[in-house]
Amino acid sequence: MGKIDNVFSERNFLWGSGTAAYQCEGGWDADKKGTGEWDYFNHNSALNVNSQDGDDASDFFHRYKEDIDLMAEGNQNTYRFSISWARVVPNGTGEVNQGGIDYYNDMINYCLEKNIEPNVTLFHYDLPLELAKQGGWLNRNITDAFNEYAQVCFEAFGDRVKLWSTINEPRYYSYCTNMVGNYPPNRHQDVQSYFQYQYNLMLASAKAITSFRKMNIDGMIGIVHDNGNVELDPDTENKEEIFKIADFFYNRMILVPALEGKLPDELEEMKEKFKFMIFHEDGDKELFEKGKGDYLGLNLYNRQYVKHWESGETEVFHNNKGAQSKSKEGIRLEGLFESSFDKNVKRNQWGREVNPRIMYTALIEIKERYSDPLIMITENGHGIYETPDKDDYVIDNERIETFEQFLKYMLQAKEAGVNVKGYYHWSTMDLYSWINGYEKRYGLVRVDFENDFKRTPKKSYYWFKDYIEHYNEEINNN
Ligand code: BG6
Repeated sequence: MGKIDNVFSERNFLWGSGTAAYQCEGGWDADKKGTGEWDYFNHNSALNVNSQDGDDASDFFHRYKEDIDLMAEGNQNTYRFSISWARVVPNGTGEVNQGGIDYYNDMINYCLEKNIEPNVTLFHYDLPLELAKQGGWLNRNITDAFNEYAQVCFEAFGDRVKLWSTINEPRYYSYCTNMVGNYPPNRHQDVQSYFQYQYNLMLASAKAITSFRKMNIDGMIGIVHDNGNVELDPDTENKEEIFKIADFFYNRMILVPALEGKLPDELEEMKEKFKFMIFHEDGDKELFEKGKGDYLGLNLYNRQYVKHWESGETEVFHNNKGAQSKSKEGIRLEGLFESSFDKNVKRNQWGREVNPRIMYTALIEIKERYSDPLIMITENGHGIYETPDKDDYVIDNERIETFEQFLKYMLQAKEAGVNVKGYYHWSTMDLYSWINGYEKRYGLVRVDFENDFKRTPKKSYYWFKDYIEHYNEEINNN
């Protein structure tokens, strides 16, 4: 039996939490780390709208032992984190930074010492600046640069890391960078780049997965998708057609290559509808065929609730101002479809639906439509403003209520036969929530950013700890 089989056979279920490098590490230029696109963006006052940055973030770079200890004490048996590309390969290609390799080696070893299974994501939004300057994800050369960087990581950490994913949310990343324009390089409503990004990201992923297999790493590799499953407003006209268009926009450019090793059959038709083209090369088809994942990571927060387009020009609605804005999250694509706003569903302060039921529907839909893949919930959580009680203790009952519901629906889906094998709560501790800054908190552990990054587990941390314990007891007794 290979090591990868042990990951599952030794545990009832993978229960853990997750972070991403730029959001928690800090140490932005420590030990010869290269500059990232987000460093550049956040250091430039004309671009940085909330004047916060990830220079120190949650200082995980220096405090990872404390955080990993807390995971272990909280009954978590796995940790999802990302590697900073620029920490390992400062210019994106070429010279490898031994300082970066040493840091991740130490951190991974510490996870293993504490019996925490590391789950590594190779790219979570933080592009090395040198590659951004060369056109970033629009320049096809990046797919080779990513493959080269992935091989460096497989070589360095593949003897111990068994759970891998290539890219975090290629779809949502393409959306924020090219449609919303709130992530660098800040393009707005650029449908052409939105789809070309997804294509190049999936191609890069396919190349890295092929290398992983060639290198015979004893592990499992996949990709992480933000699965906002599409649901239609009952008033939608041409239901079948609108579902197909919206599903292509939100899901299919990722799910079909990830799970079926090809491009969606409807691509040509959709190019006409959305008016974009794909720059590609001969041989890409074979690359996609080889680049199918072993599993699918799903970040599940919300659904995509849509109806037919009624009127008005293309417009993206987004709320990075939280309570200071009444804006709800959504989009209108002229002539195609638009978001619908369901009055019966609660929204968070950032205008996004809070609707735990979608955990069940999204999982069932993927099982039924994509031949029952192995799935891990790689992110799920609830962002809120928080004020601690005494001694920095946060009584986050609202998070716990949502959390409980999401888990209930996940286990119902599991019961109904979905092959879900792990759950990672977002996030391990409070961190930099991109353009939403530090006010939007997701952590199970509070970080006092004003007071030496002091960690204090929240009520939800203890709730999750008990939940895991009871789950294990129940499984062991049956
Ligand atoms: C996910 C990302 O989409 O959502 C995370 O992978 C992110 O990096 C999380 O922090 C929460 O995002 P937001 O937009 O609510 O701050």
